[in-house]
Amino acid sequence: MGLFDGKKGVVFGIANERSIAWAITQQLFAQGAEIGFTHLPDKDPERPKNANKVKKLVEPLGAKFVVPCDVQKDEDLDAVFAKITEQFGKIDFVLHSIAFAPPADLTQEVYKCSRAGFSLSMDISVYSLIAMCGRAKAIMNPGGSILTLTYLGGEKVIPGYNLMGLCKSALESSVEYIASEMGADGVRVNALSAGPVRTISASGVGDFKKMLTLYETFSPLRRNITEEEVGKSGMFLLSDMSGGITGETLHVDCGYHVMGGPPLDAFGNKAEASE
Ligand SMILES: NC(=O)c1ccc[n+]([C@@H]2O[C@H](COP(=O)([O-])OP(=O)(O)OC[C@H]3O[C@@H](n4cnc5c(N)ncnc54)[C@H](O)[C@@H]3O)[C@@H](O)[C@H]2O)c1
Repeated sequence: MGLFDGKKGVVFGIANERSIAWAITQQLFAQGAEIGFTHLPDKDPERPKNANKVKKLVEPLGAKFVVPCDVQKDEDLDAVFAKITEQFGKIDFVLHSIAFAPPADLTQEVYKCSRAGFSLSMDISVYSLIAMCGRAKAIMNPGGSILTLTYLGGEKVIPGYNLMGLCKSALESSVEYIASEMGADGVRVNALSAGPVRTISASGVGDFKKMLTLYETFSPLRRNITEEEVGKSGMFLLSDMSGGITGETLHVDCGYHVMGGPPLDAFGNKAEASE
């Protein structure tokens, strides 16, 4: 018996085998879920690289469909939700694991960010969740769950996270508002705040190696999270096991977010710490 036996849903945001959405997807499949997927549309239909990468991962596990979707296009979102309705009728979960900011804006100080870069980043990283929730509302079963991915840089200043921090603040606020609005239908909306995971998106944010060292040194568990841990926690938030949780941002970061200063053993002072 799997936690997702008889449950159906859609996953947005697999780019490759490193994607957080893929880590969560593997756990969903292991629990018996029926899932449809989207991929970033390919510019050259002769060389469908994005489609192939996603299909290679999900088709062997029994994906119900794999369709293109640029979340900046209403017509793409409409087509995906029409496909979901045709395939499944009603659904039980939606995973939103999407973010983007133009590198030129992301790598600058926030006060240097362009108007166009700000709009684009907010559109892809925040409005896409709002647009999906609006479309999902009519077809979610009571008890359904919507999950997005966020990062601590939306709550606190994480140097290098810059513009994406603003997006994550807005995303987490959207989660709270939409959770309050969709709760009456029995639908939950949550965010999973993951520690650093080496993915394509992560490579665009600050000095990733330093981030990994920071978490190993400062977090209560003195290590980084594993993809499997994010996958399992994501599956939990999409499952009935988290039935009483909504409007929440759950940190899956080895506890890093609770620290207000370095642990006593942080700078090689292990002996001092244990005295
Ligand atoms: N990797 C980390 O360290 C980390 C930590 C915390 C939160 N997150 C968040 O997790 C989520 C997933 O990121 P990831 O790290 O797995 O990286 P990823 O690059 O594998 O996933 C990002 C996804 O966004 C998609 N995307 C970008 N623009 C799009 C558009 N216009 N239309 C449709 N899809 C689009 C990409 O195709 C990709 O599948 C993001 O919200 C990210 O901010 C990542």
